[in-house]
Amino acid sequence: MERATVIVAIDGPSGTGKSSTSKAVAAQLGLSYLDTGAQYRAITWWMVNNGIDIEDPSAIAAVAGKPEIVSGTDPSAPTITVDGTDVAGPIRTQEVTSKVSAVSAVPEVRARITELQRSIASGSENGIVVEGRDIGTTVLPDADLKIFLTASPEARAARRNNELKGADVHATREALLKRDAADSSRKASPLAKADDAVEVDTSDLTLQQVIECVVTLIEEKRAAK
Ligand code: DC
Repeated sequence: MERATVIVAIDGPSGTGKSSTSKAVAAQLGLSYLDTGAQYRAITWWMVNNGIDIEDPSAIAAVAGKPEIVSGTDPSAPTITVDGTDVAGPIRTQEVTSKVSAVSAVPEVRARITELQRSIASGSENGIVVEGRDIGTTVLPDADLKIFLTASPEARAARRNNELKGADVHATREALLKRDAADSSRKASPLAKADDAVEVDTSDLTLQQVIECVVTLIEEKRAAK
């Protein structure tokens, strides 16, 4: 039987296991994968690299259309380039991480990136797992399945710390909570759970358990289509 195309939105704050889950689920089910946080990080990297004043939303808005951002959607090897330059490494630096919330709060940036995300999702052949903050609420409100991942601040800080080997857990927790607060309180499509999203608290689950849970939810949706 021909498998139905399925569009899956996975939202939630950082440290909930969103990226690892989304990539693994997409790979397991033969779906494409889009990391929308990487796109916001990429445009932030471009702003920093071009000397744009991050404190000035109108300066950011004026050049929001300039960088060409291309996302590769193979879940086993996702890529991200800006004007042809591979920025997969540079977009994970502390500098970009500390500035991305300010850049992604600018409506012109969101409009630009949202349009890009919608065109990638509509062009995916078998379906796609799109991870972010506003996918279920704003970018793809008609997604077949919406998942909202949560976890306690302690669990999230501990996971982030494992990735950042040797970092101070309290500092990580504070930085993470600060970024979430900024992402949740901005006016333009904040981090939020869609009314029809399934909430999964990952605090006490292993990554494997979260993956299995999401795969089951997708299989159920596909079977019902
Ligand atoms: O998932 P991440 O930590 O790489 O995301 C980086 C930032 O990008 C996050 O702090 C907020 C922003 N973002 C957003 O505003 N909307 C999305 N759909 C995804 C990320």
